[in-house]
Amino acid sequence: MVKICCIGAGYVGGPTMAVIALKCPDIEVVVVDISEPRIAAWNSDQLPIYEPGLDDVVKQCRGKNIFFSTDVEKHVAEADIVFVSVNTPTKTQGLGAGKAADLTYWESAARTIADVSKSDKIVVEKSTVPVKTAEAIEKILTHNSKGIKFQILSNPEFLAEGTAIEDLFQPDRVLIGGRETPEGQKAIQALKSVYAHWVPEDRILTTNLWSAELSKLAANAFLAQRISSVNAMSALCEATGADVAEVSYAIGKDSRIGPKFLSSSVGFGGSCFQKDILNLVYICECNGLPEVAEYWKQVIKINDYQKSRFVNRVVSSMFNTVSQKKIAILGFAFKKDTGDTRETPAIDVCKGLLGDKAILNIYDPQVTEDQIQRDLIMKKFDWDHPLHLQPKSPKSAVKQVSVTWDAYEATKGAHGICILTEWDEFRTLDYKKIFDNMQKPAFVFDGRNVVNADELRRIGFIVYSIGKPLDAWLKDMPAIA
Ligand code: NAD
Ligand code: UDX
Repeated sequence: MVKICCIGAGYVGGPTMAVIALKCPDIEVVVVDISEPRIAAWNSDQLPIYEPGLDDVVKQCRGKNIFFSTDVEKHVAEADIVFVSVNTPTKTQGLGAGKAADLTYWESAARTIADVSKSDKIVVEKSTVPVKTAEAIEKILTHNSKGIKFQILSNPEFLAEGTAIEDLFQPDRVLIGGRETPEGQKAIQALKSVYAHWVPEDRILTTNLWSAELSKLAANAFLAQRISSVNAMSALCEATGADVAEVSYAIGKDSRIGPKFLSSSVGFGGSCFQKDILNLVYICECNGLPEVAEYWKQVIKINDYQKSRFVNRVVSSMFNTVSQKKIAILGFAFKKDTGDTRETPAIDVCKGLLGDKAILNIYDPQVTEDQIQRDLIMKKFDWDHPLHLQPKSPKSAVKQVSVTWDAYEATKGAHGICILTEWDEFRTLDYKKIFDNMQKPAFVFDGRNVVNADELRRIGFIVYSIGKPLDAWLKDMPAIA
């Protein structure tokens, strides 16, 4: 029986390994992590992450051919294939701060592999890493190898949160990069045979190591660029009376452009896009390509612009101040169907409103009060000025924030509503009931274009929808970005 060990039981390691275990009953998988609470949660009925379909998959194979453990050394030592799926955040200090990937966790995992291995192994980069990381890892492993042979493969993960199980069941492609040596090719075939249990052969792409590593950064950069492009258009739509949804539809009908990933929003969030683009920017700069670096940086600048444009619109529409006004925030997660709040645009929007002394009442179906409070007092990491002193964290802000478990409760007595996540339930709320319980004039600022604006206007709301023609009210109170 082939034994797989995955280091890192997070959003990627957990679901990816659960699907491998489900689809490959002949393989034993152990997912290890240094975090005891995380492993305890994977072994309980309350999994550490919310992901549609995940519970089912885990229940079907946990205790049969997938196990979760904190005994990293034992399970790494016993494995034939070791996936490394640890976090690779942006460096916040030192050389490359604000852009470069922090590979501390990766290096520590690699050293553990080198220390405890007693047999040859295939080591798979599952984390998103800078191009050429495999070379550094090879050095760590071979310099500490005691004669053991390691083959490094790059097998970046393309799943998106909220649809992880679907994406893993039916991936557009699986990418495996390896050395162009006979041993490298053999390792590629070994990993290919794992995925071949359920992924059609023509969807398993094999490349050299550096192409696989760079393809992951490139894919995320291209996806994020589409969102920043449509968000840039949304500002122009508001200025001209065009409707961004109609523009997206019209351009998406061009088969060369395609319809996906063209929804205008309050900004993209999530743990990947900003981090991976900054990483790409840093790699370009290190390779003497400042123009290319500047090009990709613009994707993040537009994203920041979109978030502050939204805040400015809220404040300017409400007579240029939200001080002591109650604002209901519907949705805090970075997208629907996840409880993940990493880099969620809601953090920046809430902080912007708190900066103008608003009182926030927040509701998200999957994010806990604790998480929201932590996110709002955490110092904002300023990627553009990482070395400057950060402003003191606004501890007092927390007092201005309450969290409810119901959209109706959150909107009671509010002056305005900001919709920041596209949860399906926000489309079908009883907005008449909500309107009746709000202060007047009652505002809705729809950062995800989920509500039927015309219907809400008929009820009496003043509605702002990203990138859509403005109400007369909003036209009279232009937001200064
Ligand atoms: P995560 O923070 O959810 O999980 C990482 C886990 O690794 C944590 O539980 C941490 O405790 C553990 N860990 C860190 N160092 C360790 C060590 N030395 N030994 C054992 N465990 C250790 O991160 P994630 O969202 O799963 O992302 C992991 C990687 O996958 C990142 O590089 C990310 O860029 C990439 N990725 C993420 C997504 C996504 O949607 N989240 C998608 C594709 C790729
Ligand atoms: C992304 C990539 O899609 C995935 O392939 C990669 O493996 C990890 O990073 P994820 O961040 O989980 O996945 O979610 P994604 O669906 O890409 O959404 C990212 C952000 O973009 C969210 O905040 C989402 O709301 C926003 N978005 C997405 C838009 O604003 N408009 C769109 O049209 C699509």
